[in-house]
Amino acid sequence: MTASLVLCSLTFILALIIFIFIKRKQTKLNLPPGNMGWPFLGETIGYLRPYSVTTLGEFMETHIARYGRIYKSHLFGEPTIVSADAGLNRFILQNEGKLFECSYPKSIGGILGKWSMLVVVGDMHRDMRMISINFLSHARLRSQLLREVEKHALLVLNSWEEDSTFSAQDEAKKFTFNLMAEHIMSLDPGELETEKLKKEYVTFMKGVISPPLNFPGTPYRKALKSRSTILKFIEGKMEERVQLIQEGKDSTEEEDLLNWVLKHSNLSTEQILDLILSLLFAGHETSSVAIALAIYFLPGCPRAIQQLREEHLAIAREKKKSGETELTWEDYKKMEFTHCVVNETLRYGNVVRFLHRKAIKDVRYKGYDIPCGWKVLPVISAAHLDPLLFDQPQHFDPWRWQSDANRGSISSCPSGSTGSNTFMPFGGGPRLCTGSELAKLEMVVFIHHLVLNYQWELIDETDQAFAYPYVDFPRGLSIRVQRHLSV
Ligand code: HEM
Ligand SMILES: *[C@@H]1O[C@H](CO)[C@@H](O)[C@H](O)[C@H]1NC(C)=O
Ligand SMILES: *[C@@H]1O[C@H](CO)[C@@H](O)[C@H](O)[C@H]1NC(C)=O
Repeated sequence: MTASLVLCSLTFILALIIFIFIKRKQTKLNLPPGNMGWPFLGETIGYLRPYSVTTLGEFMETHIARYGRIYKSHLFGEPTIVSADAGLNRFILQNEGKLFECSYPKSIGGILGKWSMLVVVGDMHRDMRMISINFLSHARLRSQLLREVEKHALLVLNSWEEDSTFSAQDEAKKFTFNLMAEHIMSLDPGELETEKLKKEYVTFMKGVISPPLNFPGTPYRKALKSRSTILKFIEGKMEERVQLIQEGKDSTEEEDLLNWVLKHSNLSTEQILDLILSLLFAGHETSSVAIALAIYFLPGCPRAIQQLREEHLAIAREKKKSGETELTWEDYKKMEFTHCVVNETLRYGNVVRFLHRKAIKDVRYKGYDIPCGWKVLPVISAAHLDPLLFDQPQHFDPWRWQSDANRGSISSCPSGSTGSNTFMPFGGGPRLCTGSELAKLEMVVFIHHLVLNYQWELIDETDQAFAYPYVDFPRGLSIRVQRHLSV
């Protein structure tokens, strides 16, 4: 009796000490200001409310106004530090694996797979990253991808009929999907199996971006089903390929990703499937949105279209003279103004608006504490729309990217650089997008043939881009096109 009383009071005292200790530690912490919102839900609903693509959205704007560029909140079921601070964002991305770690919500892992590149960390991430870097290397871009990109751009653009109206977003998706499907698994556009995969993939995508409610009939549930259909398809391709490799009948000179992974890596079947699915996802959704955004922004800036046309006409004429038919890497490098348009589209449109991380140590930054285990959301779009970093950020102004030498005036950017310091549409650090060079190549080559061949107009003012926060044109971005008479 006495013994249990003593034990009881000891436990109580111990609990009290721990409680006081935690309380002291917490009060000593200097968390950023902010509002934790409702229990469990926190502020997630406000955070995910759709907004116009060229803004940061009301939630972000009011929170920054109230609390500053670093604030605390409760999002996706976890206590979270949101950072719209360019310096902290760089710090977070650069310290991947040391102070912070990639940490996407569970639902993403459920659908992209537990071996998806967006989800894996540590050695596994390093190995998969090596594969994707190899697959998207500069040498491959020059020797193989440039040709494939041009082929697929022309395939889509040549199918457009004079004076017709259609969804530019769908056309951009067709382009990037066909390109990835060919480069990853040698699927031909238009073939039955490619079309079936594309259809399945649309259902799959709807689930990636919808709430993870696994009930019959929800988009998430349907997407999980699509996921297994797609994986079965890829697995079938894999088995065919293993057979060919064993028989020594695989073609070695133009290897696709599937071949390369089977021959050069130790990944298990399950890992290869998730890797391929995540590359298809990462390499298709983002760059098609970027192309749609360029089609959307440019008509608001006729002077830019004019300058683009001059740049591409000059190149096309020169090629005609020398009898060349395909674009070369030198042509690509010459498209300087187009590169400015690409950067400006990525800055203004922000295809990826924020990333998911968590602190794996207690971190102090500018006097604020970020406790170990908290989610951290670097909002990489915030710097791109910050008037202190980009002069008149609400203007689509490709010329801001021209080097001072070219335009003979002072840089419009007070920080002195529109450079990699604050501009990070592709993230940064050890998880920097491995497809950034391919994405730019796709955008530039598509724009090249677009402005050479067509004039286009947006036919519906209400057909706009929104951030959900993934970027989408809910009405598809309808355009009407007219062919230019001659090149
Ligand atoms: C305009 C188009 C694109 C944008 C804006 C974009 C943006 C990004 C961003 C911000 C990340 C970092 C994610 C994070 O840190 O959590 C990322 C990662 C990645 N992207 Fe892209 N991306 C684009 C196109 C592509 C393309 C065409 C590919 C080609 C397959 C690709 C493949 C990848 C891969 C594999 C990763 C994961 C890298 C890693 O974890 O090490 N992306 N992308
Ligand atoms: C695959 O595994 C073997 C033996 O386990 C090892 O020697 C080789 O380096 C590994 N290759 C790769 C690409 O990881
Ligand atoms: C576009 O931005 C990148 C940084 O991501 C920079 O290195 C490049 O020079 C910029 N291009 C132009 C034409 O300014």
